[in-house]
Amino acid sequence: MARVMLTGGAGYIASHTATVLSERGHEIVLLDNFSNAERDVPARLRGLIGREMPVIEADIRDVDAVSAALAAHKVEAVIHFAALKAVGESEADPLLYYDINIIGAIRLLQAMQAQGVARIVFSSSATVYGQPDASPIREDAPTRVQNIYGRTKLVTEDLIRDLARTGKLRAAANLRYFNPVGAHASAVIGETPRGVPNNLMPYITQVATGERPYLNVYGNDYETHDGTGVRDYIHVMDLAEAHALALEHILANDVAVTVNLGTGIGVSVLDLVGAFERATGRRIPLNIAPRRAGDVASYYADPAAAAAIFGWRARRGIDDMCRDAWAWQARRSGVNDL
Ligand code: UFG
Repeated sequence: MARVMLTGGAGYIASHTATVLSERGHEIVLLDNFSNAERDVPARLRGLIGREMPVIEADIRDVDAVSAALAAHKVEAVIHFAALKAVGESEADPLLYYDINIIGAIRLLQAMQAQGVARIVFSSSATVYGQPDASPIREDAPTRVQNIYGRTKLVTEDLIRDLARTGKLRAAANLRYFNPVGAHASAVIGETPRGVPNNLMPYITQVATGERPYLNVYGNDYETHDGTGVRDYIHVMDLAEAHALALEHILANDVAVTVNLGTGIGVSVLDLVGAFERATGRRIPLNIAPRRAGDVASYYADPAAAAAIFGWRARRGIDDMCRDAWAWQARRSGVNDL
């Protein structure tokens, strides 16, 4: 059992991780500035897990506020989710991304150091691989960041590795997420993109509710089995379980690890649409559009390291991802379909 602070604790992946940590007996402390999370997420989480948890409204760049929270709640480890995550926005406003994602990580690490908290799990991204030579991708593949968002993830990984190497951190896990989708099976928490979704699954679910007329398929002339982009979609609850296992592993062993979190299965845009239609009975009209700038044809994980190091494997398949993503969106949009 550990007392764990989740930065960005009201966000999509953090809130799902909180349910798993709580189930496994850990005590959770949420820290969020609510710049990109709904105010009522902590209340919904309390309802789900049936327990109170401290919620601190603070910015990760505020060393004094974060230090005070770490001390007040006797935090033993931090899972650092808080960050901006839109590739296009990062290219439009690089300093904003350096400030929140990189300076934010440094300030957090300073607060941790001031309070003697020396264990961290970090939300990294498969985007650090850029255009991979081949898939499945192993963790020792070259990192070739292609946008500023990706650079902020790689720099933060490097900061954490440096602190672990020099003994300033005792335990660390850099978790490279592939494409998280889906929602908690209760449909009480899920993903809430602001405005028009950039990502495929939330776009599909909003087409299914009728909020958007059709899905733009960005390119059907890639060198993939059906011409559309291939990704490694991973159910957010599998991802949440991986955080708990990674945390428990680094706490027990005082080690630093960098691991992929994916299923190892490549799924195309058309595969995902087909699975969604089968899982939900809703039809998704398509519009074949030009390729989206910066997109890679295909990438998926080699997830063997996470299995070997801390015994984690994704258990949920593409049908579960579609069903749970839809249940969540249908509930939010008031679609009576369940
Ligand atoms: N796609 C469409 N139509 C859409 C949205 C996406 O066809 O409306 C396609 C994309 O072209 C791609 C696939 O669906 O082939 C997945 O796209 P997403 O936007 O869902 O995911 P990405 O793989 O592009 O994005 C992910 C993460 C980002 C990360 C990025 C780096 O969500 O955080 O990888 O490549 F930065």
